[in-house]
Amino acid sequence: MRLSVIGTGYLGATHAACMAELGHDVVGIDSDSAKVDSLIAGRVPFFEPGLPEVLQRNLAAGRLRFSTDPADAADAQVHFVCVGTPQKASAYGADLTQIWAAVDALAPHLRQPTLVAGKSTVPVGTAAEMTARFQAAAPAGADVHVAWNPEFLREGHAVADTLHPDRLVAGVTDPVDEARLREVYAALLAEGTPWLVTDLPTAELVKVSANAFLATKISFINAMSEVCEATGADVVTLSKALGMDPRIGEQFLRAGLGFGGGCLPKDIRAFMARAGELGVDQALTFLREVDEINLRRRRRTVDLAREAVGGRFRDRQVAVWGAAFKPNSDDVRDSPALDVAAAIYTEGGEVVVHDPRAMDNARESFPHLAYADSPQEAVAGADVVLLLTEWRDYLDIDPHTIAAAMRDRVVVDARNALDLSLWRAAGFTYRGLGRPGA
Ligand code: UDX
Repeated sequence: MRLSVIGTGYLGATHAACMAELGHDVVGIDSDSAKVDSLIAGRVPFFEPGLPEVLQRNLAAGRLRFSTDPADAADAQVHFVCVGTPQKASAYGADLTQIWAAVDALAPHLRQPTLVAGKSTVPVGTAAEMTARFQAAAPAGADVHVAWNPEFLREGHAVADTLHPDRLVAGVTDPVDEARLREVYAALLAEGTPWLVTDLPTAELVKVSANAFLATKISFINAMSEVCEATGADVVTLSKALGMDPRIGEQFLRAGLGFGGGCLPKDIRAFMARAGELGVDQALTFLREVDEINLRRRRRTVDLAREAVGGRFRDRQVAVWGAAFKPNSDDVRDSPALDVAAAIYTEGGEVVVHDPRAMDNARESFPHLAYADSPQEAVAGADVVLLLTEWRDYLDIDPHTIAAAMRDRVVVDARNALDLSLWRAAGFTYRGLGRPGA
């Protein structure tokens, strides 16, 4: 099929390359010419394992093109909208500027009956408004139908999540639209991927409620961390025991510094804002707590670090391992790690940050922090080392090899990911989140 993908960020670039991998003829459209030039040259402008190979293979096969000109999308049978929906600058709601810009850019080029499938995470009701806007802006005869086909990919696993999803959700208003989406995903459906057909608002809600649930699960275990800290219990063992109950499950039950990134924090806030507009704000007030618990973990980590260096950060050197919001990503959007690093800097600490992949993005967002080229360089002369993003690189470091370089041997493991007996054996004082007795 001929497909277009509007917006080539994390979601769109992955979707475009993966749809070409399925054998479709795909054009990716983005107004950012630097991004488009990079993709045309076979370079993914962010770190995503496995994506460069899929991109390059499909560019070479001639199935994948990129352009800044929406006219190049004109003859596609399905247009996927994959633009960003960030949090508004000074409110909880989602900023839909890019969604409406995509409609305005695409509408004049639509000549035949067309399906536009939204993949971006949007407030419920957006698909209906999009339909109305297309009907108003597209030339007569275009007959634009809108479907919602939410994306559940995780950064760091984007290719596998797109080519082997847990489920495909198709919010449609017409069986013809469902048939067209089935054709797009025929290869995945043949592998047995569950296919759920819904109305538009249910499809929009599947995505935001999935993210709200995941955020709630993380904040639940982090709330237990607070209780553990008050009682001498150990949240790591507690989480393990809870996770063995198949009704609860072990995933997204890792206690620590909490969630960040471009999705969970802004999605729960946008969901609360939308519930308010719909007059059901009470249904989601618990998400305010979820957000608060999450942000409290960041403050608690700063407190632990401050205690570890003797009560104040001035004249103290703090090594920070990790800047990305999670391992295997270079994304620093709402990164808990950088939030903690910046808070310590603001209190007068000398902060030296290392990350295997996110250094450029971190430098751009937080230019005043100091950066080291290796984890070893970051700890040289430090009073404490904070593990804030659990990259494999850090878990593999033998603490004996860094002990001598530090001024004081204290480690704060804000992801409960290090081997505490190993660090103790190397002479370190170990502090974890939710593990007061450890
Ligand atoms: C998330 C959803 O998982 C995905 O389905 C959706 O499409 C986009 O949002 P992503 O933001 O890539 O994906 O990251 P995810 O792997 O969900 O992690 C989110 C955050 O939660 C990270 O900061 C991570 O460190 C944190 N986390 C995750 C925990 O603190 N504890 C856990 O047990 C799991």
